[in-house]
Amino acid sequence: KTNQSWGGRFAEGPKEAVAQYTDSQSYDRALYAQDIRASQAHARMLGRQGIIAPGEAQLLVEGLDRVREEIRSGNFVWKPELEDVHMNIEARLTEIMGNVGKKLHTGRSRNDQVGLSFRLFVADRLETWRQRAAGLCAVLVQRATEHANDILPGCTHLQPAQPVSLAHHLLAYAWMFRRDALRLTDCLDRVCISPLGAAALAGTTYPLDPQSVAEDVGFSGIYGNSMDAVSDRDFVLEALFDGSTIMMHLSRMCEEIILWANPAFGFVRLPDSYATGSSIMPQKKNPDVAELMRGKTGRVYGSLMGLLTTMKGLPLAYNRDMQEDKEGFLDADKTVEASLRLMAGMMEELTFRTDRMREACKAGFLNATELADYLVGKGIPFREAHHITGQCVAAAESQGKGLEDLPLPEMQALEPRIEDDVYAILDYAAAVRRRETPGGTGPQSVAAQVAQLRTWLAGM
Ligand code: ARG
Repeated sequence: KTNQSWGGRFAEGPKEAVAQYTDSQSYDRALYAQDIRASQAHARMLGRQGIIAPGEAQLLVEGLDRVREEIRSGNFVWKPELEDVHMNIEARLTEIMGNVGKKLHTGRSRNDQVGLSFRLFVADRLETWRQRAAGLCAVLVQRATEHANDILPGCTHLQPAQPVSLAHHLLAYAWMFRRDALRLTDCLDRVCISPLGAAALAGTTYPLDPQSVAEDVGFSGIYGNSMDAVSDRDFVLEALFDGSTIMMHLSRMCEEIILWANPAFGFVRLPDSYATGSSIMPQKKNPDVAELMRGKTGRVYGSLMGLLTTMKGLPLAYNRDMQEDKEGFLDADKTVEASLRLMAGMMEELTFRTDRMREACKAGFLNATELADYLVGKGIPFREAHHITGQCVAAAESQGKGLEDLPLPEMQALEPRIEDDVYAILDYAAAVRRRETPGGTGPQSVAAQVAQLRTWLAGM
């Protein structure tokens, strides 16, 4: 005989190894607050619908408050043999409240229960990610306004391409994190749907009011199909994809920070509080935070790929496989939240070595496009202008100079229409100032970006 809550038809309980293998309370206890919120909403609905007496509903709500307090204060005794957070809480409720506790699970299955609890949990976490993504965006916007007039080499293929303002470079990331926040808002629309009322898979015979449960927990609506409701884990997958995209953006930033901290670039000085040293090489100051963030991106992708693989090929409706949705998300949550927070802190304290950036613009002919555009202005077709400019680059390169250092007669030998006004055009900062197309690196375009991002941040 077993005393499991489902044990009526069992002659013996699970083997110790089986209990350990199927256990989830060791980690899904993280969902306790959401599980209690969901159970209280369910109890109130049972009372409103006359399925249990209103006084009983009230007792269940109070009992669940007490259980929550026990867990919060660390006085709750978790029992592995009770499998998961849901049964641990229900068993304790019954211990405290007696027989009325046994009425909580009326018209409900753990299948729709875990769906609602986990959706509430994921929604809470996504809201935090959203705030953190916006927070990082705000730091980037702030740093951008400090560096509106500083320039650095913009790259394609990691090779010098055209000069850009440091503000523009930083804002590129600000836009990514804004997009990430918007993606989370969109994802939350689908997370905040209550599956409660689907019961095990087919609905129930009790006159439940699922819509009122959804409203009680602050969700926007309910499932359309009970079988889909209990077997849908798209909401976790989407959340993990959004987290993966955030990590991918962070990882790209990390890569640049790591490169820029190398003295060969020397574009940033890491704050001491975000760097570590070497146990053998005394001179070292390593960008470990950025490296770990780049590395931890892998585990968030892993959680996404893991759950996609778990869900692949599952027949309708609930399958125990789905219990595997939690550890990956819990792990990803820790990583995404901390990474966004740390990156914001690091970006606040990072020093940009704008002198080094300006100096670096002189290598790699970043003003070659300017010369080609100048020749177009003199009536030369662009392809031809491109070719002439290439010849000027070759001439300058063979002398170890920049285009701006080539004497006028040498340029005129290659193209007689080049005049003295070319040197103003070849100025790197001027090249940045001239690019005022929408979203471009010119100062007005950058100011417009800052204004747009600030308007969005103000509404967050
Ligand atoms: N711990 C389970 C999970 O996370 C709860 C649902 C269990 N349902 C069941 N029929 N065994 O998926």
